[in-house]
This record gives sequence, structure tokens and C-alpha cells, in this order.
Amino acid sequence: MKILILGGNGMLGPPVIDNLSGRHELRITDINELETEHDYRQVDVSNLEQVVDAAEGMDAIVNLSVLRPHRQIAFDVNTRGNYNMAIAAKTHGIRRLINTGPHFQLAGRNYEEFNFELTPDMPPQPGTRLYAITKALGQEILKVFSEHEDIYVQTLLFYNFYDAETLSAPNGGPRIGTDLTPFSVSWTDAAQAIRCALELPFAKLPSRCETYYIFTDLPHQKFDNSKTRAQLGWRPRHFLEGVWTKPIA
Ligand SMILES: NC(=O)c1ccc[n+]([C@@H]2O[C@H](COP(=O)([O-])OP(=O)(O)OC[C@H]3O[C@@H](n4cnc5c(N)ncnc54)[C@H](O)[C@@H]3O)[C@@H](O)[C@H]2O)c1
Repeated sequence: MKILILGGNGMLGPPVIDNLSGRHELRITDINELETEHDYRQVDVSNLEQVVDAAEGMDAIVNLSVLRPHRQIAFDVNTRGNYNMAIAAKTHGIRRLINTGPHFQLAGRNYEEFNFELTPDMPPQPGTRLYAITKALGQEILKVFSEHEDIYVQTLLFYNFYDAETLSAPNGGPRIGTDLTPFSVSWTDAAQAIRCALELPFAKLPSRCETYYIFTDLPHQKFDNSKTRAQLGWRPRHFLEGVWTKPIA
């Protein structure tokens, strides 16, 4: 499969590229420059023409781009970026779109702080946080396209990533012996979920727009990853026990 990756030069890009290399033909793009053995183009996802050009000849698009802090640019990247991806798909007859984002674009604070056994098919409640609301709007745009075009959208939601070997997380996240967020996954398992979504036959999808929670099996049962396991056939390899198993004093 020929796969266009948008925003491929961030934290999740490298494990995804490693996972897909050799199985698929990749065209990697990002707003920044990147040295890579793969076909690479500098593409701003908020620029419709650039996204449409980059998507020519592709079979699928994976959107890993994100911009968190700035009011205008967050909309341009997180919301308009998905609109541009959908227009590019429509223009070139690309049927498979993989969208990514944080869990709170669906399960915002009202859910996370008060509820358990949260599933990805709940009505979205992103709240008003800029990152969450701009990503949620981007997801909504893709949903509307999937209702009117022959386009399949799979949205994969993440929260906290760990290096499976060192059990370290970005930004000095939870350390061994402390609690971890009940929505954590290793980078390599996260990348594998994207591969599972890309390689899933359309016939196995219940609809043209499906959302998945990507986190490993954890004892808290606050979130529910059974849909991801059942539909994508995804199985986490890393359970991160070293983080959530505390030594007995
Ligand atoms: N890293 C996390 O902790 C985390 C947690 C939850 C969800 N996610 C989601 O995972 C996905 C990947 O995130 P990440 O961790 O790789 O983020 P990141 O910030 O490390 O990387 C994002 C990439 O998007 C690129 N980008 C920004 N503006 C762009 C533009 N205008 N055009 C093209 N590219 C642009 C950046 O250059 C960067 O390479 C995102 O959808 C994000 O919301 C990440």
C-alpha cells in the first residue's frame, strides 16, 4: 500500500515509520525538514494545495500532525488539517484515512473525572480545552465526509506513551513505582495499532467511521480497549507492569 503520513516528524512518527517500513511504500511529510530514506516532502497540513498534491497516487493517509498551544494555529492544524486530508482523499479517490488524537477529544474531563469503563463509542465530550476541541472538530469533519463519500475513517486515540524498555515517558511522566495514567501504551504497540488499522479489510469495519482507544491492558478498568482488540485485532505486547506494580513495603 502507498501511504502518505502527515506530521511524520514528531514523537509518534518514528515508531510508526519503523513499523510500516518494508511492508508499505511510505511518503512522509511534515512542516519541518526531515532526513529519511523514504520519499519525503515538506507539507503544511493547513495548506490545502500542499496536502492534495502530496496525496496524489496514495492508497491511504495517516494524520499524525498536531499543534497544541496556539489558538489560531491549533485550529489550522488540528481541524483544518483533517478537512484538507478529507478533500485530498476525495480528490484522489483515497478510501482509507487514519486519524489520531488525544483521548480527551472524546472523553473529556466530565467523563474522565467521574466515570469508569469508558468506551470509544460514547457521545464526545471534549470540553473547552483548545487541544481537545480542535481535534474533536477535526474528527467531526471526517465523520461528515465518511457519511457522504466513499471514505473510511479510523480514529485512534492515545494519551500516555512509554518506552517499553526503559519505562520512561515523555516530559518526565510517571516513574517506576508511581501511578500511571490508566490510558498508557508503549510507542511500539501504538505504532502496531496504526498498522492494524491500515491493514484491516473494510468489510470488517462496522461503519465508515470508527474510533478506537489505544492503551494496554491495565487493572484500573477506567477505559475499555475491548473494541480495539475485537475489531482491529490489535494485541498489546507491553503491559507496563513495572510502572503500575508497586513494591510491597
Ligand atoms: N505525544 C503524546 O503524548 C500524545 C498523547 C496523546 C495523543 N497524541 C496524538 O498522537 C498524534 C501524534 O502526536 P506526536 O506525539 O507525534 O506529536 P508531536 O507534537 O511530537 O508531533 C506532531 C508533528 O506534527 C507536525 N506539525 C505541526 N504543525 C504542522 C503543520 N502545520 N503541518 C504539518 N505538520 C505539522 C510537527 O512538526 C510534528 O512533527 C497526534 O494526533 C497527537 O494528538 C500524542
